Amino acid sequence: MLQGRRVLLAVTGGVAAYKSAYLARLLVEAGADVEVILTDSSQAFIGPQTFAAIVGRHPHTDLFHGHSVSPHTDLARWCELVVVAPATASTMGKIANGISSNLLTATVLATEVPVLFAPAMHTEMWEHPATQRNLSTLRSDGHHFVGPASGALAGGDAGIGRMAEPEQIMEAIAGILGGSDGSLRVLVTAGGTREPLDPVRFLGNRSSGKMGHAIADEAARRGYQVTLVTASDLAVVPSVKVVEVETAAEMLEAVSGIEADVAIMAAAVADFRPARSGDEKISRSEGLSSIELEPTPDVLASVIDRENRPYVVGFAAETGDLDRAVAKTMQKGVDLLVYNDVTEPGSGFGSDTNRVVIVDPEGNTDRWPLLGKREVAARLLDRVNADLSARG
Ligand SMILES: Cc1cc2nc3c(=O)[nH]c(=O)nc-3n(C[C@H](O)[C@H](O)[C@H](O)COP(=O)(O)O)c2cc1C
Repeated sequence: MLQGRRVLLAVTGGVAAYKSAYLARLLVEAGADVEVILTDSSQAFIGPQTFAAIVGRHPHTDLFHGHSVSPHTDLARWCELVVVAPATASTMGKIANGISSNLLTATVLATEVPVLFAPAMHTEMWEHPATQRNLSTLRSDGHHFVGPASGALAGGDAGIGRMAEPEQIMEAIAGILGGSDGSLRVLVTAGGTREPLDPVRFLGNRSSGKMGHAIADEAARRGYQVTLVTASDLAVVPSVKVVEVETAAEMLEAVSGIEADVAIMAAAVADFRPARSGDEKISRSEGLSSIELEPTPDVLASVIDRENRPYVVGFAAETGDLDRAVAKTMQKGVDLLVYNDVTEPGSGFGSDTNRVVIVDPEGNTDRWPLLGKREVAARLLDRVNADLSARG
């Protein structure tokens, strides 16, 4: 299932550390290439020799006194996924606040790959406002979580805070790595196109490109080959191939040259453009009584109509009509539609959060809560992965 995938297992100081030895074993059995980091505290609960015997390599325990000159950057670049299990309140707090005071936290800060946390702690620690604050920061930074569950805790207590079982953590790992070998080709479109009226003016829309860029970032962090065709000038991680465009016609042309297994069409492509756009600026004295419009090419349809069509995710930015979006999904033939009502607070254009409804081709809807756009991106890619795995 994870043949040859490079997983960095990072173990922190909680009683649940004993279960991480079993997790290491499951990873090895699934074919993963595993390196282990142990924090100082974790070694009060489980020894390095146990992991060495399971994964066949000595765990990394020290930022300064190992063989490597720079172990945190070496490990950060080597791995495809970091799994922090168990994740203590302390380590989560450090990472949420950018504190890189040991090998584990320095590696997580230095890496561009996805990080999965399996928190484990007493209920009081989990429910403490500081932990919840750190959790929400980590989520909005695009990190992944599995658990915690409710059940028996150390010292005979019970409640929420129990680490997810190793089998569940394995499922979460497979969801992120997608069971693919990292060669998945993902095309993402983003931003709002601008349709020129003259060399100075254009018809545009309010799309910032944040959602599409968050998807491109998240897909790249998962090791996919990502091409982003964008009408936005927001930054993305360096491994994303970026094609900048301005108009719907340019977007169509750029997209048509890109082979993809998955196409996530998050751009807000203009439906109409001025029928004539001159080379000269229209002057006030000339006057302009009306602007004649013509339809733009349908970029989404061009991808759906391909002979060798990819898995296609469409986006619908609407103003309140979910039924219309569902009908549109059926009619356009997308594999998944992400609907968002741009009139809702905290949702849609320009904001860092989004409240979306996922619509499948059968018309089933899945309403997600208000989430950071990075988390929407992560959940969306998990959903795409699950659909692709189900199709084999
Ligand atoms: C017996 C015992 C059990 C502990 N279990 C947990 C735990 O489950 N979760 C947690 O967040 N901290 C737990 N702690 C506290 C952490 O070990 C402590 O905060 C430590 O500094 C964490 O360091 P690390 O995150 O670098 O491994 C426990 C401490 C003791 C003594």
